[in-house]
Amino acid sequence: MNTDLQTILPTDPRAGYRAHEEEIRQAIQGVLDAGTYILGSEVAGFEREFAAYLGVRSAIGVASGTDALYLALLSCGLRPGDGVLTVSHTAVATIAAIEMAGAIPILIDVDPLTHTLDPDRLEDACDEYRALSAEVSMKAIVAVHLYGHPADMTALQEIASRYDLFVIEDCAQAHGSAIEGVKTGSWGAIGAFSFYPTKNLPALGDAGAIVTNHPDFGERARMLREYGWRERYVSQLPGTNSRLDEIQAAILRVRLRHLEAENQRRRELAGLYSDQLRDLPLVLPIARGQVSHVYHQYVIQTSSRDELRRYLDSRRIKTLVHYPVPVHLQPAYRDRLPIHRAGLPRTERLSAEILSLPMHPFLTEAQATRVVEEIRGFYGRGGSRPT
Ligand SMILES: Cc1ncc(COP(=O)(O)O)c(C=O)c1O
Repeated sequence: MNTDLQTILPTDPRAGYRAHEEEIRQAIQGVLDAGTYILGSEVAGFEREFAAYLGVRSAIGVASGTDALYLALLSCGLRPGDGVLTVSHTAVATIAAIEMAGAIPILIDVDPLTHTLDPDRLEDACDEYRALSAEVSMKAIVAVHLYGHPADMTALQEIASRYDLFVIEDCAQAHGSAIEGVKTGSWGAIGAFSFYPTKNLPALGDAGAIVTNHPDFGERARMLREYGWRERYVSQLPGTNSRLDEIQAAILRVRLRHLEAENQRRRELAGLYSDQLRDLPLVLPIARGQVSHVYHQYVIQTSSRDELRRYLDSRRIKTLVHYPVPVHLQPAYRDRLPIHRAGLPRTERLSAEILSLPMHPFLTEAQATRVVEEIRGFYGRGGSRPT
């Protein structure tokens, strides 16, 4: 290991805090002084501002992205035993939330280039499971906008309306991404966001939000996050406690003001990577159609993934893999989740070949250039293999 080199991190939540330190400290101090620590004016303010930013009727702050998905599913009226079509190439939270709602995740392969739910496979799965309707009643699709690239919402919504399914958007990696100028989170029946500290819109702890244009779903989500209350101490629904706290909401209001600029910075860094890696035997990310990609991750693909990763690590460049084990192959899920009849070969191949390069808005041009140079160095010294 070369000890002269400075370590480059894959993501850096502390750099985000430092960049906005004064504003964040003031926001936290404001909450401490105001004396309301749960569901007060900061949560209400953030919900208003986030809904306006996305162009949706309402946003409901909750405790995490996992809870946001879980409560979004319940808000649409999902019942135990209902089938939910989704991907295995995602954070385990997507599947965990479906099971928390008592529903059955049915797994479908992804488009190999956008890494999002493949509409052709979805359509075939709808046919397959409609034929089995006595066993599973299909109710919804969870579309995951993975790495910041929106799923093909036009195609997915069209299929969903033909098969009478709700579309729920998992926007945990896609704050501010859009299709034809329309933000993700506003396309489906309901959307779920995570504000985990490494996300494009980060809190300094756990936090999430449900967003929707549907008045009934919004009202139900708001009730479900606090014991099913419309009126205090009277539970109209069997709800839970999944409240967003005031300090996180105040921090999110600060970070929301910087989200567009930080997404733009991510796009610039992605542009730098793509320009300078283009001639290497790597599959680089694409932005397909009229989408605005927000590069939560910049993910390359190569059959030499493990060697490249080890080489970069030896050069003090830390990378991640999102995700090394698809959900259907993890011990908790293996052999028990229904899988579309075409199987998940692309998902399995991706998990062996993808690599997430360092990507966050505070990465400097010099750091990104060093990442490129080290990757070029790897291939220059005979690391090149067919992708
Ligand atoms: C695609 C996806 N869905 C859901 C989640 C869950 O969010 P959280 O970690 O806030 O529960 C995450 C975050 O890890 C995610 O990346």
